[in-house]
Amino acid sequence: MKKILITGGAGFIGSHVVRLFVNKYPECEIYNLDKLTYAGNLENLTDIENKPNYHFIKGDIVDADYIYQLFAEHQFDSVIHLAAESHVDRSITNPTEFVMTNVVGTVNLLNAAKSNWQLAIGNGVSENLFYHVSTDEVYGSLHDGGFFLENTPYDPQSPYSASKASSDHFVRAYHNTYKLPIVISNCSNNYGPNQFPEKLIPLFINNIRNNKPLPVYGKGENVRDWLFVVDHARAIDDVFHKGKIGETYNIGGFNEWKNLDLIKVICKVMDKKLGREIGESKKLISYVTDRAGHDLRYAIDANKIMNELGWKPSLQFEEGIEKTIDWYLTNQKWLDDVTSGDYAKYYEKLYVGR
Ligand code: NAD
Ligand code: TYD
Repeated sequence: MKKILITGGAGFIGSHVVRLFVNKYPECEIYNLDKLTYAGNLENLTDIENKPNYHFIKGDIVDADYIYQLFAEHQFDSVIHLAAESHVDRSITNPTEFVMTNVVGTVNLLNAAKSNWQLAIGNGVSENLFYHVSTDEVYGSLHDGGFFLENTPYDPQSPYSASKASSDHFVRAYHNTYKLPIVISNCSNNYGPNQFPEKLIPLFINNIRNNKPLPVYGKGENVRDWLFVVDHARAIDDVFHKGKIGETYNIGGFNEWKNLDLIKVICKVMDKKLGREIGESKKLISYVTDRAGHDLRYAIDANKIMNELGWKPSLQFEEGIEKTIDWYLTNQKWLDDVTSGDYAKYYEKLYVGR
């Protein structure tokens, strides 16, 4: 029986990956290792928590001895590594935490895998796989057209993207140096259910429902390429099962939106869902000081994963955003629970002076 360790499985994307693997592969044992930081929430997984092939382990990837012991005890066959600090604004106020979790935590997992696996992949076939889930932000900012390809040079601009770029480099270095069987994917911005409401889309949905200002950074002209989270989880499944060892796959939906245009769509759908007059939520838009070092545009060329692995997004954006808004409006207790306590204080502080 295959034992798959998924790190960060209580977070936004991780919970969708855990759900997909637990349901789709009942013959595999799925271990979800998560520290349960502010971004991790076991409520995200109540529908599968009692399945016989699902196991939750609370633990910290930064603790090298603990990670080493955990591997020795469970003998995982594969790792899908998603645990990370993931919010750019937090990385600007606390970069060291990003180095610890995203870089040191990744290296701890690589070391544990290296010590426990037979590293002989001369023919490119292996029983083991270390799958590192990363972001398109490692490629930096696009200014004049074009797309990020798998061989676009790394040019990270924020402490978050620098920490993810560093972790990607370590994963490739372990493949090159020790023949660790690895695969990496770099995905564009995700949206959908269970995303912590400090990221643009759930934050704005939450603020609209509470009649709070919508803080648009700068002029709202930055462009992001949005993918529904379930489609990212499906892509991860394809890369895990069909990806070639040592390769990188870019994941994205060819779905670019200027922030302000996206925000106007959210406002309009929210007006409709809340029975407000059209144009009401838009009045909450408030232009604030730009994010330091704000990347202008991200856009993924996803042709490699589409052509080689046969993946493609299943949802059009209009359908995805409607589904997403419906989820947050039917799960308002989830929103209230995750934004109570320390987060409320953090949020107030973040926007003081903006
Ligand atoms: P998230 O912040 O929602 O979840 C991260 C999870 O990791 C949480 O459950 C948290 O408790 C856990 N975690 C944090 N530190 C840990 C530690 N030291 N030990 C164990 N667990 C720890 O993040 P997300 O948005 O779901 O992103 C998941 C991964 O996907 C990240 O690696 C991120 O870089 C990458 N990614 C995210 C996006 C996006 O749009 N959100 C896009 C591309 C790639
Ligand atoms: P975010 O969801 O933080 O993702 P990332 O920075 O990783 O792309 O932000 C998406 C875009 O929205 C980004 O250009 C910053 C902008 N933004 C705002 O204008 N206001 C906000 O309150 C937030 C959180 C983001």
